[in-house]
Amino acid sequence: MTTIQNALSEWFSDNKRELPWRSQPTPYFVWISEIILQQTRVSQGYDYFMRFTEKWPTLKDLAQASEEEVLKMWQGLGYYSRARNLHRCAQQVVERHGGEFPASYEALRKLQGIGDYTAAAIASIAFDLPHAVVDGNVFRVLSRLFDIDTPININEGKNLFAKLADEMLDRQHPGLHNQAMMEFGALHCVPKTPDCINCPLQAHCLAFANGTVAERPVKTDKLKIRTRYFNYLVFRIQNTKELYIHKRTAKDIWINLYDFPLIETKEPTDINQLLQKDDFKQYVGTKDFTVGKISKQFTHKLTHQTIVAQFIEIFLEEKLPICETNDILLTAEMDMEKFPVPRLIDLYIKLKS
Ligand code: ADE
Ligand code: SF4
Repeated sequence: MTTIQNALSEWFSDNKRELPWRSQPTPYFVWISEIILQQTRVSQGYDYFMRFTEKWPTLKDLAQASEEEVLKMWQGLGYYSRARNLHRCAQQVVERHGGEFPASYEALRKLQGIGDYTAAAIASIAFDLPHAVVDGNVFRVLSRLFDIDTPININEGKNLFAKLADEMLDRQHPGLHNQAMMEFGALHCVPKTPDCINCPLQAHCLAFANGTVAERPVKTDKLKIRTRYFNYLVFRIQNTKELYIHKRTAKDIWINLYDFPLIETKEPTDINQLLQKDDFKQYVGTKDFTVGKISKQFTHKLTHQTIVAQFIEIFLEEKLPICETNDILLTAEMDMEKFPVPRLIDLYIKLKS
C-alpha cells in the first residue's frame, strides 16, 4: 500500500459514519443507497433508505411494486427518472439474473440506470472487485491532491480523473478504498472549508503546497438555463371538496407524476391574458366559472431549467367537459396525498392546507 492509501484508510477507520449499508453491504443495499445518495446527502438519504428497505426488504419485493408506489416513495428527492430506472432495474435483475445482482462490472453496467459510477460502487463495495469510483467527492479530493486545473465537467477532465482514480485504487481493498475516498471528500476535504491544518494527507497535497485549494476543482461555465412559466389551473367544483388533477404523460419533466391542468407560457402572464387563451377555453368550454385565489409565484430550480409557477383557483358550477380524457381526473382533495407529485405541487398543497 502506498503512504497515501495508508493514511486514507487509517482516517476512514477512525472517522467513518456507521451506516446500515456499510454494516451490511449487500448488493441490494449498496445499490439503493448509492442511487439515493446521487440525489441527496447522507443525513437526508438515511431516512429514505430506511423507508425503502422497510417497505421492500429485497430486490424481488421492489421488482413487484408498482411504479406509482416507487415514485411516491421517492417523492422529495427530485429527478424522478432515477426512481423509474430503479424500479425497472430491479425487474431486469429478476428477468436476467434470477433476482441476484451479477458480480461483474460489465453486466451491472448494462442494467437500467446503472452508469459508470454506480457499477463501480456496487462492484467494489458489494463484491470487492477492483473498479474505482469517481463522484463529486473524488473529483474534489483528486484535483486537490494532484493540483489539477483541467475542468471536471468536460470529457478530457472526466477521462483524466477516471485514470487517476484507477491508479490510486487500493486493489487489495477496493470497496474500503472507494468508500474512504468518498467519505474523506464528504467529511474532511469539503468544498468550502476543508480542514487542511489537521489533514492526514497534507504532506502529499499539491494544492495545499501551491495555495490553490480554494480554486479546486475547476468547472467550466454551466449551460444556459431556460425559464418556463407554468400557469396552473386548480379547478374546483363549487361547494364540494373535489378538484381536477393531471397525470403528466408527455416526454418532458416529471413523467407519470401528477400536477394540475396547465397552461405554459414563454413569459409571465396575468389572469386576464390567461382567460383569453384558447387553451383555457378548451378546458372550460362554455361552462360558467369564477376565479378564486391566485397564489404567489413559486420558483423551482431544476438542473437545466427554472420553473416559475403560479396557481389559479377556478370555481365551477358543474364538471368540466374534458373529464377522464387528456389524463385529467377529478379527485377528492383529501385523496391528493396518495398521488406522486413533484415537490413544487407538494409545496403548494401544504401551503393551502
Ligand atoms: N456518497 C455516495 N456514496 C457514498 C459512499 N459509499 N460513502 C461515502 N459517501 C458517499
Ligand atoms: Fe484536502 Fe486540504 Fe487535505 Fe489537501 S490538505 S487533501 S485540500 S483537506
